[in-house]
Amino acid sequence: MEKKTKNTGTPIDCPVRHMAFIMDGNGRWAKKRGMPREYGHKFGAEAFRRVLRRCSQLGMEAVTFYVFSTENWKRPQKEVDSILKLLDQYLDECEEELKKNDIRFIFIGDRSPFSPQIREKIDKIERISAHYTCIVNLALNYGGRSELVHAANQLLKQGKEEITEQDFANALYTSQSPEPDMIVRTGGDLRISNFLLWQAAYAELYFTDKLWPDFQADDVDEAVENFKNRKRRFGGV
Ligand code: IPE
Ligand code: IPE
Ligand code: MG
Repeated sequence: MEKKTKNTGTPIDCPVRHMAFIMDGNGRWAKKRGMPREYGHKFGAEAFRRVLRRCSQLGMEAVTFYVFSTENWKRPQKEVDSILKLLDQYLDECEEELKKNDIRFIFIGDRSPFSPQIREKIDKIERISAHYTCIVNLALNYGGRSELVHAANQLLKQGKEEITEQDFANALYTSQSPEPDMIVRTGGDLRISNFLLWQAAYAELYFTDKLWPDFQADDVDEAVENFKNRKRRFGGV
């Protein structure tokens, strides 16, 4: 089946419908250069822009980025502030990019601890990009466990006494996206770190030692190539 992207009009056939990224290694990248961790986040934000553009060009239906976890508040205040500042700046300037690349932003996670200023910007971006096609989930103050508890509470509020797997999937923050086909983690650690716990059930895992600020558009292509060689059985033979 041939699909066409709105942004390029060229036929595309990306086997990965949904790719998810654990963008790890910003701090180590900065340290290697004798710079503070904040410097790594700045270049990490550049890598995010490149990868986002590439994924949308490839015609993925959904892309998820782990931006800030529920556990990342444990970091020094200065570092947390620098990440939130980069986010704030990005929210101010991303509108044109979303339009150009047909990208719809959905912020997943608990946004209640953020400043009213950031929350308003998030709401606005979601609203103005709602009619675009490529879903990009930005995981912000996101934790897989917190998402599961949130979903369970949503179902309780709906008065459900018994639920199905489909009910549960519908109550997750990612209900609009197909399940991730591949989860990519940069930075060399072999773990999930509380990311997409439910959704990862049958995701292919891809780990690379490359630190996130070094991750290029070509590296997305390489992960897609790698995906093509995976034999997915979903429990069958
Ligand atoms: C990922 O890079 C960015 C966030 C978690 C916000 P890190 O900041 O975790 O970088 P390392 O893992 O310490 O190198
Ligand atoms: C995972 O990276 C969270 C994000 C990429 C936002 P961490 O650096 O927080 O994960 P751990 O601490 O190595 O497990
Ligand atoms: Mg890390």
